[in-house]
Amino acid sequence: MIEPLYITTPIYYVNDRPHLGHAYTTIVTDVISRFARMKKQECFFLTGTDEHGDKIVRAAKKENLSPREYVEKISSLFKNLWPELNIENSYFVRTTDQSHVEVVENILRKIYDSGDIYFAEYEGQYCFGCERFYSERELVDGKCPDHGTAPEVIKESNYFFKMSKYQQWLLDHIEKNPDFIRPERYKNEVLSFLREPLEDLCISRPKSRLKWGITLPFDEDYVTYVWFDALLNYVSALEYPDGETYKKFWPHVQHIVAKDILKPHGIYWPTMLKSAGIPLYKHLNVHGFWNVDHSKMSKSIGNVVEPLQMKNIYGTDAFRFFLIRDMVFGLDSDYSEEAMVQRINSDLANDLGNLFSRVIAMVHKYFKAVVPNVDLSLEKEMELGLKEDAFNAVSCFESSMENFSFHKAMIAVWEFINRMNKYVDVTAPWILAKQKSTRKQLEAVIFNLLEGLRIVSGLIYPVMPDTAKTMQKHLGLDPETPFYTLDLLRSWNTIVPETKLPKGISLFPRIDFEKIQKERADIAASVLAEEKLPDITLEDLSRVDLRAATVIKAEIIPRAKKLLKLEVDIGEVRTIVAGIANDYKPEDLVGKQVIVIANLKPAKLMGILSNGMLLAAVEDGKSSVATLDREVKPGTSLR
Ligand code: ME8
Ligand code: MG
Repeated sequence: MIEPLYITTPIYYVNDRPHLGHAYTTIVTDVISRFARMKKQECFFLTGTDEHGDKIVRAAKKENLSPREYVEKISSLFKNLWPELNIENSYFVRTTDQSHVEVVENILRKIYDSGDIYFAEYEGQYCFGCERFYSERELVDGKCPDHGTAPEVIKESNYFFKMSKYQQWLLDHIEKNPDFIRPERYKNEVLSFLREPLEDLCISRPKSRLKWGITLPFDEDYVTYVWFDALLNYVSALEYPDGETYKKFWPHVQHIVAKDILKPHGIYWPTMLKSAGIPLYKHLNVHGFWNVDHSKMSKSIGNVVEPLQMKNIYGTDAFRFFLIRDMVFGLDSDYSEEAMVQRINSDLANDLGNLFSRVIAMVHKYFKAVVPNVDLSLEKEMELGLKEDAFNAVSCFESSMENFSFHKAMIAVWEFINRMNKYVDVTAPWILAKQKSTRKQLEAVIFNLLEGLRIVSGLIYPVMPDTAKTMQKHLGLDPETPFYTLDLLRSWNTIVPETKLPKGISLFPRIDFEKIQKERADIAASVLAEEKLPDITLEDLSRVDLRAATVIKAEIIPRAKKLLKLEVDIGEVRTIVAGIANDYKPEDLVGKQVIVIANLKPAKLMGILSNGMLLAAVEDGKSSVATLDREVKPGTSLR
């Protein structure tokens, strides 16, 4: 039996809605947990939300909600998103959970009692955006490297964790365990931090400044610094210290984070664990950042990618596939919808989708939808190395997945898919089908193709679980047996002859990106047309001279289909041309009191000078003239 696995994503701040970056980390972690299922490895997969701190208080204020109401709202956006993306986490932790709070208190007290927490006055440069002090060395041109704003000098008494005490110990640990932090570039980054003197960590915030946090168990005038609180989710979720899940899974923990939170995970967390007497994590796995259309994703640029939107347009599996296929774990990657569509059309619709529907169609056409019973010696003769290539794909997939080279795992699968496409071309089943004498060969070719597709369905399972299951069904595989376990993928001849296959299916329809873009432009234009005008002041309004006007005379203008010429009394007689001839006869209007804009610059229409404008509502091209409810003296102002 292989040992269990515990994998975690960061717990995301609820100061923001879930976006592409959060989706990526959580999808990758889901892929790892599904890969564990392929190995029959027991796996606990944790994600959740980080809900304390100043950032959250400010975000709540912006929405006029109490912090508690606000965190409920945003946390559930995350929680509800994951099933939509086919993510099957074992648990969802929240730092506002009572059980989490108790663990934080428990560990704080433990560290305090051991003497690793002390009280001191501190003056330093504090960035309110990051909610932490910065040393001179960390600032860039005197500014916060993250926010680009100058920190404020604040002086206050706080509790400190003796992080510096563990500096040498951590250096030694990393050097002794070179893959403690991986890939290597991030290990090196942490090592270079550790070669400079490490300062102690300020782990409290006075309640006078911040109340939304966990009260220190040894001083009720202070709350716990968010990072000290947040990192402990990884143990609180397992019911540290006595829970069975904790005992079973903690020794096998691996964290998955992006490079933005390397320091808290690479330095604060191991020293905290050491001080609390908790064994360290096995690996910290660090990935890069998604940029969008070559820029940093940001609200102000307006390029934030919403995972749900992408799911709704392209489907969960296609979205997951693109993210896994197009990022080298550890490096930054660029996201663009166009690149995603290209990837979907070439790899999914073309390579995989076409192969699948072609093969299934041949089973229907040549074998009345029934999996042929194959003559084993002929199967060998017709196999042309396909089986070996399948097994090579499985082993390359497996080692790449183990190394967090998820994109390489996918490349290995697609090399095999393309190998199968060539196999179809070379064996030319449509020619074999022409003669009775090659019937047995045809059976063998189709059987081999079905076997190959069965293996493909298992290999894509962690990344595209829905598609894998659709393939399983259409290949006539037993729905009750996990078809994706590695031992099944390392065997051949497990497709069951004589099974009747369901009707064919297109796994991935081709996407017409131009059409999508055009539809979007149309929608944008119609939204723009309906958009509210900007607010105006009374002063703006006073510049418009609106008057009650009695229609004295109305006549048709020959040759102008839509226009009526009106004479109206607004205290003086005016001529006005109105585009309402389709909807009003002249006699309908005479005697009515209407509303006109009296100070509109005169304009000539069909040779007639129109001196004012009639108000009317226009709905689907049909007009309804505004009239007054009770007659007033002609020329009375409207306000
Ligand atoms: O840092 N590309 O939460 P957070 C890839 N609460 N991944 C990205 C990304 C991008 N452009 N943007 C964000 C916090 N991420 C803390 C964590 S853990 C104890 C506390 C992902 O909401 C990536 O996983 O800012 C990154 O590490 C995380 O979101 C940061 O999430
Ligand atoms: Mg962040």
